Amino acid sequence: MNNIFLHENSINKESRIKLLNQKPYIIWLTGLSASGKSTLANALEVELYKKGFKTYLLDGDNLRDGLNNDLGFSKKDREENIRRVAHLSQILLDAGLIVITAFISPYKKDRKYARSLVKEDEFIEVFVDTPLEICEKRDPKGLYKKARAGKIKDFTGIDSAYEKPDNAEIIIKNENIEKSLYKIINFLEK
Ligand code: ADX
Repeated sequence: MNNIFLHENSINKESRIKLLNQKPYIIWLTGLSASGKSTLANALEVELYKKGFKTYLLDGDNLRDGLNNDLGFSKKDREENIRRVAHLSQILLDAGLIVITAFISPYKKDRKYARSLVKEDEFIEVFVDTPLEICEKRDPKGLYKKARAGKIKDFTGIDSAYEKPDNAEIIIKNENIEKSLYKIINFLEK
């Protein structure tokens, strides 16, 4: 660190946790494009909101429209995308919020990095394990079709890798929203 001095502020994470009266988490959703991450993340935030929790949802497509609009889909750019998201999530966690993230986050190394920034029990990895065939059939944005036609390069699952998690806290295997929500909320309540 060059000429950088970290400050210890008077109001810290513990103070904010007390004020907000909740335990903050990062609920990290990972999976292919069209696997259902964003839909599930949105439903989860609605559910937590109804229960009175303070949340913030970070979503790939939205973040790439602003903060990360300088990044593409090369390995290096995806790494940088996830690095920024990891740090932003850590900041929001530090603010006392329950953070829900919905990014493909295809590389184990980058997910591991995001996990490493916070305490062990604060990071909940949710693998939205929808098979490629189903994602491709859904193809809500027509991107798989374009990728198959060679019009988009480095598309996850087609010509760019997705490294499945081996130690996700929760796995959602093509289950409906209600069941998926139940799984996550149940995990949080435990
Ligand atoms: S990540 O790989 O860097 O984690 P991120 O979740 O931010 O990806 O963005 C994924 C979204 O970008 C997809 O849902 C899709 O709408 C869009 N997208 C555009 N090009 C690609 C591509 N080459 N690979 C995957 N997704 C893409």
